[in-house]
Amino acid sequence: MMTPVAWASSRLLSRVCLFLVALVVLVILYHQSGWFPTMKWMLPFLNATEGPPATMLAMDPGMWTVNSAGRLGNQMGEYATLYALAKMNGHQAYIPPEMHQQLAPLFRITLPVLSRYQVWLIPWRDYGLHDWMSEEYRHIEGKYVRLTGYPCSWTFYHHLRQEICQEFSFHDHVREEANRYLAGLRGQRQNVTYVGVHVRRGDYVRVMHQVWKGVVADKAYLDKAMGYFRARYQEPVFVVTSNGMDWCRENIDASRGDVYFSGDGKESSPGRDFALLAHCNHTIMTIGTFGIWAAYLAGGETIYLANYTLPDSPFLQLFKPEAAFLPEWIGIEADLSPLRGGTSG
Ligand SMILES: *[C@@H]1O[C@H](CO)[C@@H](O)[C@H](O)[C@H]1NC(C)=O
Ligand SMILES: *[C@@H]1O[C@H](CO)[C@@H](O)[C@H](O)[C@H]1NC(C)=O
Ligand SMILES: *[C@@H]1O[C@H](CO)[C@@H](O)[C@H](O)[C@H]1NC(C)=O
Ligand SMILES: *[C@@H]1O[C@H](CO)[C@@H](O)[C@H](O)[C@H]1NC(C)=O
Repeated sequence: MMTPVAWASSRLLSRVCLFLVALVVLVILYHQSGWFPTMKWMLPFLNATEGPPATMLAMDPGMWTVNSAGRLGNQMGEYATLYALAKMNGHQAYIPPEMHQQLAPLFRITLPVLSRYQVWLIPWRDYGLHDWMSEEYRHIEGKYVRLTGYPCSWTFYHHLRQEICQEFSFHDHVREEANRYLAGLRGQRQNVTYVGVHVRRGDYVRVMHQVWKGVVADKAYLDKAMGYFRARYQEPVFVVTSNGMDWCRENIDASRGDVYFSGDGKESSPGRDFALLAHCNHTIMTIGTFGIWAAYLAGGETIYLANYTLPDSPFLQLFKPEAAFLPEWIGIEADLSPLRGGTSG
């Protein structure tokens, strides 16, 4: 038999549980736009007895966000794509906290940041993107949309170039450090032109070959690309950044005295390397979104490695070269002979 006190307290407990369940249901309904008033148009109810004005309904911009996947270059692509697509569709963009953590130490980004609670609780509509702009992306339905994928294509955001470059403008201390480093390389030169060289190695060397039937940049590519700038500019200075500096030291001809390996040839922080490249006048990139973004921000002449996979590579299902490289950038054909030789496959 339950004592009256125990009976009363178990009734209290079940009421508390019921209340909590009701609260959770309400919060979920509250975030399902269309089902239930959202906060923005709840506010007028507090004052007036009549319903929300129609203009308030139309103006509720909802919340759009994007997945935070990959490292610096990917994060920048995701940020810029969210920025552009949210604007195109008339919604307010918010970035996840992990993206803020990666980008905010370098850049003066302005998009508001979601709380972890919002990331978790809002029933986002996931919307997968491929890596080039499509007409249907101008009409994405939903007030609470999370874009997913690894978008990094100028076709999403090049019409907003100034705004995007503003978002990715560096903090003063980052800019000053990069400029100080570059000024230190000038030496006796009167008319120096800085060329940032980004050599992506690491996991790509194996993955390009085994997974994507492709190659990474080789010595001949870098010789040609540097030759282009040596022929065109009086006093070029090449600033090499890489996650495979030993390879670079062995394969990049530095005998003319115009090549500098960033960080004395040791791998330095990606943010610092990125700032150096972006502050150079021109860019030699190899592959990867890091180099693409450095070239985009540097804004000068850009040389890229072109056609670096076999024509039947699955990579080409995901990647359209014409959407990755700006039309004015200059491609140098990759040497695919290592893939075609009898030793591969
Ligand atoms: C409530 O009314 C006051 C005075 O009319 C107004 O200043 C305020 O913005 C209103 N609040 C909301 C949430 O609409
Ligand atoms: C500086 O170099 C550029 C090419 O690198 C050249 O066009 C320009 O005339 C040079 N300026 C001077 C003052 O020599
Ligand atoms: C080249 O880059 C340096 C360093 O960022 C900058 O000071 C200089 O003005 C640039 N030169 C040109 C011609 O843009
Ligand atoms: C890459 O291949 C395409 C198709 O074969 C060709 O049109 C293009 O010119 C090539 N790019 C470069 C930079 O050679």
